[in-house]
Amino acid sequence: MKKILVTGGAGYIGSHTVVELAQAGYEPVIIDDFVNSKESVLGGLREILGHDVPCHHVDCTNADALREVFRQEGDVAGVIHFAAFKAVGESVQKPLMYFQNNVGSLLTLIQVMTEAGVGNLVFSSSCTVYGAPDSLPVTEATPTKPATSPYGRTKQMCEDIVHDVSAAPGNQLHTILLRYFNPIGAHSSAKIGELPLGVPNNLVPFITQTAAGIREKLTINGDTYDTPDGTNIRDYIHVVDLAKAHITAVQRLLDRKATDVVETFNIGTGHGNSVLEVVKTFEEASGQKLNYVMGPPRPGDVPAIYADATKAADILGFKTETSLFDSLASAWKWQESLGK
Ligand code: UD1
Repeated sequence: MKKILVTGGAGYIGSHTVVELAQAGYEPVIIDDFVNSKESVLGGLREILGHDVPCHHVDCTNADALREVFRQEGDVAGVIHFAAFKAVGESVQKPLMYFQNNVGSLLTLIQVMTEAGVGNLVFSSSCTVYGAPDSLPVTEATPTKPATSPYGRTKQMCEDIVHDVSAAPGNQLHTILLRYFNPIGAHSSAKIGELPLGVPNNLVPFITQTAAGIREKLTINGDTYDTPDGTNIRDYIHVVDLAKAHITAVQRLLDRKATDVVETFNIGTGHGNSVLEVVKTFEEASGQKLNYVMGPPRPGDVPAIYADATKAADILGFKTETSLFDSLASAWKWQESLGK
């Protein structure tokens, strides 16, 4: 079994990827500092997989601690690097914290991987690198625009760092950059899902918490955008579909099938949905009436973005399997399980 270290493996996308890795015959090992995740995730993983997933309680900006993980784990085939802060608004308030954590952890990780002779990396990037694109859908060749937040800038910087490191003489690093669109939903077992600490920033956990009575109402961030119903358009992808893209990416690296030392793929459905469409679809999928109001635009939001996912389909054989309806139904099932 090939051992894959998963930084941020107790987080939302990380935990779903750990399940898919294990079920595809890999040996996932989690590295997480639990500042934005809960230890209870490990219990959910155990229930789904029927065994414990090894976990190192380590902050990836701590080089010595990370070195010790690689030493203890021995034969590591590759790393999937999720560990990062991801709240756009918070990044505006605390930019240094975002640069230190998101950029710092990547620099440390690459350094330690190089020392350990581990040359395969899958990096969690984001559609945020495109900024506000001139045309839609965005392909991997769509020029990136200035980021609209420090969070977005950390993802752009991390991509640049990977490219520069990979272009240096003697480079041993092979990387696949996955640019995620908007992950939503939860595992079909409802044993793992999104666990926002405090008030959720993202749309779907806010919706499910409102339906559950934890929040009074959802505020839709603007209805006068230049879109058919005036609300923002995003590409919502089920988290398990997104997780599966990592398995294909890892396998491609291990098989040395990549045609470049750094390859980039959009991971989305290829379809855009408006905030109002998500709200309406949630109401149908959950049978819950949602209390919502229209509010002002949120600073930094781009009006519309969705993926051209052709490259991932052609090269990775990637296709999404879960509809928006089923994704939202899974998010609701997860929310209900939390109440129990
Ligand atoms: C953002 C980032 C994305 C990042 C993700 C992680 C950008 C362009 N996108 O996604 O890269 O991976 O955060 O957190 O930087 N909305 C409401 N009311 C709410 C919450 C959200 O109307 O209470 C709307 C937003 O304005 C937006 C849509 O729902 O139009 C989705 O928002 P959200 O889930 O926060 O994701 P993004 O901002 O698209």
